[in-house]
Amino acid sequence: MNAFSLASQPEPHEAGVSRQRAWVEVDAEAIRRNAAVLSAGLAPGSSLMAVVKADGYGHGAAPVAQAALAGGASCFGVATLAEGVQLRRAGITAPVLVLGNLIHAEELRSCLRWQLMPTLSGMREALLCQNLAATSGRTMPVHLKLDTGMARLGVDWQDGPRLVAAIADLEHLELAGIYSHLANADASPAEDDGFTRTQQHRFDTVLESLRQQDLNPGCRHLANSAATLRGRAFHYDMVRVGLALYGHSPAVHLDGAAALQPAMQVRARVSLIREVGSGVGVSYGHRFRTSRPSRLAVVGIGYADGVPRQLSGSITVLHGGRAIPQVGAITMDQLVLDATEAPDLDVGSVVTLLGHDGGLQISARDWSDGCQTIPWEILCGFKHLERWLSG
Ligand SMILES: Cc1ncc(COP(=O)(O)O)c(C=O)c1O
Repeated sequence: MNAFSLASQPEPHEAGVSRQRAWVEVDAEAIRRNAAVLSAGLAPGSSLMAVVKADGYGHGAAPVAQAALAGGASCFGVATLAEGVQLRRAGITAPVLVLGNLIHAEELRSCLRWQLMPTLSGMREALLCQNLAATSGRTMPVHLKLDTGMARLGVDWQDGPRLVAAIADLEHLELAGIYSHLANADASPAEDDGFTRTQQHRFDTVLESLRQQDLNPGCRHLANSAATLRGRAFHYDMVRVGLALYGHSPAVHLDGAAALQPAMQVRARVSLIREVGSGVGVSYGHRFRTSRPSRLAVVGIGYADGVPRQLSGSITVLHGGRAIPQVGAITMDQLVLDATEAPDLDVGSVVTLLGHDGGLQISARDWSDGCQTIPWEILCGFKHLERWLSG
């Protein structure tokens, strides 16, 4: 394993000698490679926006951004103003688009100051930006978002051409881009009700109307990870990729679409080994009871760290190329393993909760399937855990 550096602390640490109870290892080289693989698959003329919201989906926004840039990303998407400022403070100078809605003049003024592009969902924000930019004698680049069927942010797509025309009349605004977001891009061919095509058709209808009126919308973008992997017809001038950048496929049927490598490993340390008899209830509610004399291992990670409590008793962890079952309720900062079949597991041993060990691998999707959620939520759940960078 390469030398690690603790992302949140300036002091150097020796390779692999974390004394912490639990941590996330982020492989920056995997992020770089994923960005390179994704860039290489884009339609000619299309570029890669790396979506680094939620602290880079739990991987650390700044190191992810650096790695993504090295792999060919040309700009970044964040959810909030604070996330954009964090990238600037980390020395990232590439364009940054704030994907969330900024509603206060103060926030939009900060966009000007930090050179972040806001998303506009209507005329109200357009006028606020125009006034702020005019006051400071500058031009403000913005992206207009169209709602083509997500029913979240964006102006109704049928109003798109009117909005673009109005923005073109505001001399201190530069329409740097126009975009929309797909609601069902990850639907399998069997589940697909054609709505992605409907959304794309609406997007294209707006673009065609702008073309006919000779209005320049700037950079056109529609695709998230799933649409990016589905095919070049969705790539336009740019794609906005989150999950795939971190090495995860957004849906089973897209698994083979690109050679992606998961960048996150979640590991934790055994803090206590106990030998118990048969019939002993383990953890809150005694949801598990030993059926033989057992060797239990307590591990210092729990649901406050990002391990969903709903997975209690249904996951394994990896150690020495072997899967060891977790038993009983997962608690806030600890969980228990049945290590009866793993005599080499000892106090201080490091187990892998997500990631690989020997030939075995546990993926974010293994977990999300086990608790009716999505891999995105599993990854973001670890954003407060201590982070180590490699690569
Ligand atoms: C507007 C927008 N574009 C792109 C993305 C990236 O999505 P994904 O992680 O599926 O690639 C997101 C993430 O939720 C988003 O909100």
